Amino acid sequence: MIPAEAGIQNATAQRNNDVEKGSMMKFERNILCIGAGYVGGPTMAMIAYKCPQYRVTVVDINPERIRQWNSSNLPIFEPGLEEVVLACREKNLFFSTDIEKGIKEAEIIFVSVNTPTKSFGAGAGMAADLQYWEKTARQIRDCAESPKIVVEKSTLPVKTSLAMERILSGENDRVYFDVLSNPEFLAEGTAIKDLENPDRVLIGSHETKRALKAREVLVEIYSNWVDREKIITTNLWSSELSKLAANAFLAQRISSINAISALCEKTDADIGEVATAIGMDSRVGDKFLRASVGFGGSCFKKDILNLVYLCRYYGLNEVADYWEGVVRINDYQKDRFVLNMLNAMFNTLAGKRICLFGFAFKANTGDTRESPGIFIARELVEEQAELVITDPEALENARVDLKDIEQHITYLDDPYEAAEGSHAIAVLTEWELYRDLDYERIYQSMMKPAFIFDGRNILDHRRLFAMGFNVFPIGKAPLTHF
Ligand SMILES: NC(=O)c1ccc[n+]([C@@H]2O[C@H](COP(=O)([O-])OP(=O)(O)OC[C@H]3O[C@@H](n4cnc5c(N)ncnc54)[C@H](O)[C@@H]3O)[C@@H](O)[C@H]2O)c1
Repeated sequence: MIPAEAGIQNATAQRNNDVEKGSMMKFERNILCIGAGYVGGPTMAMIAYKCPQYRVTVVDINPERIRQWNSSNLPIFEPGLEEVVLACREKNLFFSTDIEKGIKEAEIIFVSVNTPTKSFGAGAGMAADLQYWEKTARQIRDCAESPKIVVEKSTLPVKTSLAMERILSGENDRVYFDVLSNPEFLAEGTAIKDLENPDRVLIGSHETKRALKAREVLVEIYSNWVDREKIITTNLWSSELSKLAANAFLAQRISSINAISALCEKTDADIGEVATAIGMDSRVGDKFLRASVGFGGSCFKKDILNLVYLCRYYGLNEVADYWEGVVRINDYQKDRFVLNMLNAMFNTLAGKRICLFGFAFKANTGDTRESPGIFIARELVEEQAELVITDPEALENARVDLKDIEQHITYLDDPYEAAEGSHAIAVLTEWELYRDLDYERIYQSMMKPAFIFDGRNILDHRRLFAMGFNVFPIGKAPLTHF
């Protein structure tokens, strides 16, 4: 059991008592979150969990999502999430599609709608698509009958709060809105742990007396379980930019180590050894230095492209080029992985059965948005390979992502069955379970020569080689029998 889950279970009994008492009294605050996704759901569940004195409602335009949040089959997989939701749901945590009612009743409104990369018009492929966010702002303005604190939770371009203020203040002069920025830093796969014990909570606001009062309300909410020293307050623009910059820095680290992994493969250096040597420098640190098939997820690429777009908008072309390089290296790493497979397997994959171990963009999530698996699966099918995909949580999403090439893909829950009869296995997600499989058994069931491409460097390469596999790690010399 992970520590966060253990802590949560211990705290649940005590908390249930508090909520029982809480249900007898009037709630101290009425909080609404618009957008019941990967951020809105878990963040609000944590607030409800830690603050039984508040009533928290999460609304969404997607009725199916809300139905799932109210069911025993939550719409997203996160370790520990179910326990937190079940402890509060229908007590002080509610999921609903009635957005208007939610806005009318709330005094604090978190906006956590999606802000994907724009796919049309000016800035297509780079800028953030703010249509969902803007519709929400207008809806808040049109429905509000009393003052609201509106909190930007979504990741947004710098100065978006200015636009939010303009929309909110137009046409509804009956009501005053305070806009705060409170970007979310949780990482999928560890969301509950991150929310329970965040590295920091960032709150941006104006400096007016009124804005500072609104900011204090949000500080007070988080202070229910986060140390005050970890709650940082800044001006609005610093807060908005910090989120984009933080994601750019994280992605840059991955692209840096991946770039070096390409050089390792040419020079017989070992990326694991190099990463250890680099990471022991306390100025650099050892986190996030694992070479891999490339980063995915809904945020890194979109947020960097958004940053690049902003830099170009302000005429900072050199800065834009620098950050764009992080995305270019990531694309290159995915490309390289497929080309290595093709070269190793005698330059033809046509008709070969290839098994993908993992499709989620990282372990402990079912999320496949921007997963390297999507790109790699498509490239392999382009080479006329037949794919078998296995993943403990992401197969439902994989089916949607690859719908248009489904005739070339089989989906199987059992990794042994998936590997059977394959010419090669490609490990694309670092799920713990893939470390501990019986690879002797898998080897016996595969076509020969059998290949393993370890896109996460999680396997024992020497052992696999000794069994008979041809092993291709990332950033290390391959171990081959020919
Ligand atoms: N996923 C992450 O790990 C993560 C981490 C930090 C920040 N963020 C940021 O948080 C924001 C939300 O991300 P997510 O992953 O939760 O997205 P998501 O797509 O999972 O959820 C967004 C939800 O908003 C709903 N929505 C859209 N328009 C709406 C409207 N007008 N009214 C009501 N609901 C509406 C959608 O139906 C969807 O359910 C994004 O800006 C993202 O960049 C995400």
